[in-house]
Parts: sequence; C-alpha cells; structure tokens
Amino acid sequence: MNWKPDRHAKKAIYKQLAEYMEKGIADGTFPPDKPLPSERYLANTLQVNRSTVVSAYDELEAMGLIERNRGSGTTISKDIWGITRKRIPSWNRYIEAGSFLPNLPVTQKIRKEAVDHKLINLATGELSEDLFPKSALREITATRSFIGSLGYDHPQGSEILRTTLANHIKTSRGIDTNPSSILITSGAQQALHLIVQCLLKPGDAVAIEDPSYNFNLPIFKSAGLKIHYLPVHKDGINPDDLQALYKKHRIKMIFLNPDFHNPTGSSLNIKKREAILDISSKLGIPVVEDDPYSLTAFSGEKRPTLKSLDTNGNVLYISSLSKIVASGLRIGWIIGPTSVIERLSDAKQQIDFGHSSFTQWIANDFLQSSNFNLHIEHLVKELERRRDTIVQSLHTYLKDEVTFYAPQGGIHIWCQVMMEDYNETQLLEESIQRGVIYVPGSTMGSQKGFVRFTYAREDTESIDEGIKRFAEALHCLNGKR
Ligand SMILES: Cc1ncc(COP(=O)(O)O)c(C=O)c1O
Repeated sequence: MNWKPDRHAKKAIYKQLAEYMEKGIADGTFPPDKPLPSERYLANTLQVNRSTVVSAYDELEAMGLIERNRGSGTTISKDIWGITRKRIPSWNRYIEAGSFLPNLPVTQKIRKEAVDHKLINLATGELSEDLFPKSALREITATRSFIGSLGYDHPQGSEILRTTLANHIKTSRGIDTNPSSILITSGAQQALHLIVQCLLKPGDAVAIEDPSYNFNLPIFKSAGLKIHYLPVHKDGINPDDLQALYKKHRIKMIFLNPDFHNPTGSSLNIKKREAILDISSKLGIPVVEDDPYSLTAFSGEKRPTLKSLDTNGNVLYISSLSKIVASGLRIGWIIGPTSVIERLSDAKQQIDFGHSSFTQWIANDFLQSSNFNLHIEHLVKELERRRDTIVQSLHTYLKDEVTFYAPQGGIHIWCQVMMEDYNETQLLEESIQRGVIYVPGSTMGSQKGFVRFTYAREDTESIDEGIKRFAEALHCLNGKR
C-alpha cells in the first residue's frame, strides 16, 4: 500500500482513510472479490492507532460500502449498487481474461527494481544517458526549422525520413531499397509485433533463436504461434537445424538477430548467412532479420546483412535507432516487398495513426548531419571500452566461476555460471540486495545457468562495481549450499 495519511492536514486521519478506501473500492484498487486489509494490518502499515482504522471502517460500514463478517474479515458489500449507484467491475477478472499476455513476472520485477531503486543496472538493454547524442539533437531542435506534417502523416511514415533512411541503409548496410519499401515503426519492437499480427495466424509454427530476445516476448505467445527453437552457437544458429525443424514442423517464418545477437553477442558467419538464405528460398520461408546492433561493430568490419545478400525478396529487414542513437526516440523501420509494407502500414494506422512527426524530423536531420558518423565513432569506442571493462571485471572477481566469450560489438555479454543447480531466483535476490541487477538466462533461453549482463547502461566504474557485487552474491549463495 503506497498511500499514507497526511498528518498535518486538518481532516482527521480516520476520515482520510475512509475516503481513500471509498475511492479505492470505486476504482478497483480493492477488488470486490478479495477481503479488505485487516484492521491490525492497516494500523501497522500506516502507523496509526487501531481505533483510527476501526472508525474508518465504521464509516464505510455506515455508508453500506463494506460488511464485517465474523471469521472471514471485512469485505466489500455485495450490494453497493443501490447505495452508491456505481457498479464496480471485477478488474482482476478483466486483467486475467485479456488475450494480450503480460510480461513474465521476472521481467516485470527487473523493470520495477531498476526503476524504483537506484541499482547498478546491468539488465536494461539500452545506452546510458551520456551515450545519447544530446547536444547534437538539442542543436537540431534549437537551430533547424521543423519540416514535417502537423496532420496525420503518410501511413508508412514521413517520406522525407524514408528517403534519408533509404540512403543511410544503402551506405551503412549495403541494402538497396526505396522509400516505398520502408515503413517507419515505433522501434524494432513494433515492427516485430506488426509482422506477428498481420502475416501469421494462431497455430503457425515459427523458428526463433535459443537463447533469444524474442524468447521472452509474449507477443509471440499472445498471437497463438507455435514456437520452435534453434540453438545459438558462437557463430550463430546452425542452418542444418533449421532444415530439420522445417521438416518436422513446417516452419512458416524464421526470426533471426544475426549481428551481435541479444543475448549471446554472437554473429552469424558469412557461410551460414548464405546457407540460411539458400534454405529460405528453396523452401519459400520468409526470414525476419532483426538488426538493431550491426553498426556497433568494434573492429569497424561489418558482415553483409542477410537483406543485402537476398536476391529473391525473402527477407524482411528490421532495425531501429534505439541502440545507436536514443531508445526514447522510438524510431524503427521495416524494409520489405511493397505489398507487405502496405499491409503492415494499414495495420499501424489502425493501431496509432502513424508515428510522431517530431521524432521523425529529429531522426531525419540527425541522420543527414555529419554529427551522425562522429557520434557512431564515439559510441563504438565507448562501448568497446565498457566491453573491455566487463571482461576484465569478470576475470578479476569470477575467474573460473563463469565462462563467456567477449562480444565484438553490441551491448550484451552472456555468461555461463559454473555452479551446478543453483537457484536463479535466489541469485537474483542476493544480487538485488547488494544493489546490482542483471537478466537471468532462463528468461531468454531454455538452458539453465546463464546470465546476461548489459554493459552499455553503466559507466566503467559502475560496471566493475556491479560485477564485484554479483560475485559476492554468487559466493554467498555458494556458501549457503
Ligand atoms: C534483438 C532486438 N530486437 C528488437 C529490440 C527492440 O528494440 P526497439 O523497439 O527499442 O528498437 C531489442 C531491444 O532490446 C532487441 O535486442
């Protein structure tokens, strides 16, 4: 219970409590099918006399809002309809009945802990504040005039941005495209959602990587898809596994994150890229290439995107500015055949009537400016420095207790914890208590005993301190066994 009485207010505390409870009963904070908090619990939690709670409940009872029953405690009146003229929906039943699934409880917990407490955040997959190109973006808003529509824009997004993106994608990722083959989305996430909703139907079988970012995305499950897994090795998935999976399950679509894969950091080698495209065109299965990280290659050397090798039109290419510019801009895109892009943009119109013209304008001007390349150069150097730090810290504090390989780009490192059958939840709790948070591997894959650390979200000092605290948590858990 977050509510607290105002001890300086003129209104008596029992009155404040009665009003708070009345409002909570009306808005569903206190569901009608659950008992209300006991008098003793409320008195302890609010640090008030029990008689204050009794008076508040007396008032609510007199209004006919609650019933006090011997044995079963205090409940909301079954017939408050006649008295309050308000009917209370059973929000809990609605919440549970919706077809769109909630995030996994552990994912919700990580988000909440990261927001509510000042923890060292090795969990959230985004850049730290100081890596956002703030001054360059500020310069755009301060000195350039807005060139966009103030009305509803084109269903595929601003034509100006799509033209800029077509040029940017040609030079940075070798993909030949044009503005009519691009749809601007709210990050890569919306692109994935639109594909799942518009191009697949319940019961369709899809292949995703194991482990994978998509593993914990309820959008796949909400859409009723049958999910099959392709194990990820140091150089990505094995094309033979894909072929075998297809034979067994008639896979309808393949989702891959070929460069600096989330969470393993691995990249598909070129031979495997060609083999996957070969299988895709022989069997006629589309490949969704989810590519938010390829521009972060530390060596500067980039492997060709699947889309740039795709002569057949089998690949739907997704990317975004989230991991290279700023996740808050929510600028992502899909490139594909125009018929597919039109279908997806029609759906996007139904969902949100298109993307905000302001962030499209800022993204467009930033991509066109010389600051963009300067920013990427700086970002890549800084990410590499943080990668080096986390690798060093893992060696220092957890020498033989974890194994991993150092990613050559991206923002994640995937570690196997060399302790048999440990309790993942307990390790997370011990770590949170020590002020550090990360992602337990089971939320991202079928194998046990892994953790994902993100090194983009904290500076080098905090990364080192975070790994030190994680090591303490692990040692404590080990000591308890
Ligand atoms: C592989 C991958 N795809 C898509 C996304 C979604 O990112 P956004 O919607 O911010 O572009 C993420 C975010 O972590 C990711 O790692």
